Amino acid sequence: MSDYTLAARLERAISIAEEAGQMIIKAREQQDFAKRLKKDNELVTDVDVAVDELIRQRLEEHFPGEARLSEELAPESALQVEAPRLWVVDPIDGTVNFAQGLRHVAVSIGWMEAGVAKVGVVHAPFLGETFSAAEGAGAFCNGQPIKPSNAGSLAHTLVGTGFPYRKEGRKHLLKRLEAVLIECQDIRRNGAAALDLCDVACGRLDAYYESVSPWDFVAGWVIAREAGARVGHLYEAPQSVPEDLYPEHLLVTAPGIYDAMAYLLLDADQR
Ligand code: IPD
Ligand code: CA
Ligand code: CA
Repeated sequence: MSDYTLAARLERAISIAEEAGQMIIKAREQQDFAKRLKKDNELVTDVDVAVDELIRQRLEEHFPGEARLSEELAPESALQVEAPRLWVVDPIDGTVNFAQGLRHVAVSIGWMEAGVAKVGVVHAPFLGETFSAAEGAGAFCNGQPIKPSNAGSLAHTLVGTGFPYRKEGRKHLLKRLEAVLIECQDIRRNGAAALDLCDVACGRLDAYYESVSPWDFVAGWVIAREAGARVGHLYEAPQSVPEDLYPEHLLVTAPGIYDAMAYLLLDADQR
């Protein structure tokens, strides 16, 4: 199906994400899923795996043979960045929220061609919101166009971020956190990176920074960029990894605040 237009891919990805969202809602209602810890103390439930399998099947039906990178079933193929076409899937972004009964939970499906992220869908079943974007066609929430805020000073910048599961990975982030709490309006930790990116895209948050995994950010990155937010990395991606797949040191902001946020965070790293 290499002749699919971006609009057709987006439409299909939206319907797959919404079907996955129904599965997540049902699983919460039934409450009979098991939980366990995987590497680095990360929580995973049966539902994460079942939703990943549903999305795998649907993508294979509609886009047979296209490569997939997904958190539960195909994380190792992060190495397949050479793939000319690549689906990047987080079946449940916000697993801890899902298991705790919180509402910040999303299905995230991105699509890349030749290393460039071109299609993104982030569907939040408990919030009733579907964010979507395709390259060159703008970004939407439930079909309505979205845009970032016009924040122009750190004092008026509400910042989203997150922290890795590994406790050892947290300590060095405290300097950034201190700088943000002192210089910016305030901070939010909502527990689903994909939604943090969409919240910047639609102006609910003014900035977001974090180091994550590819499936956490690719879809939201397209949505934020298409909405008019500025997306970038605090430190350059290695030459071997396409920028749109490099998950470290992300910075995504309303356009008027990017440089000030980058300076603040990089300066904090030097302390
Ligand atoms: C996590 C969420 C969280 C972020 C973590 C991610 P998961 O994804 O996006 O907001 O801070 O780094 O791992 O495990 O819920 O899919
Ligand atoms: Ca995730
Ligand atoms: Ca996940």
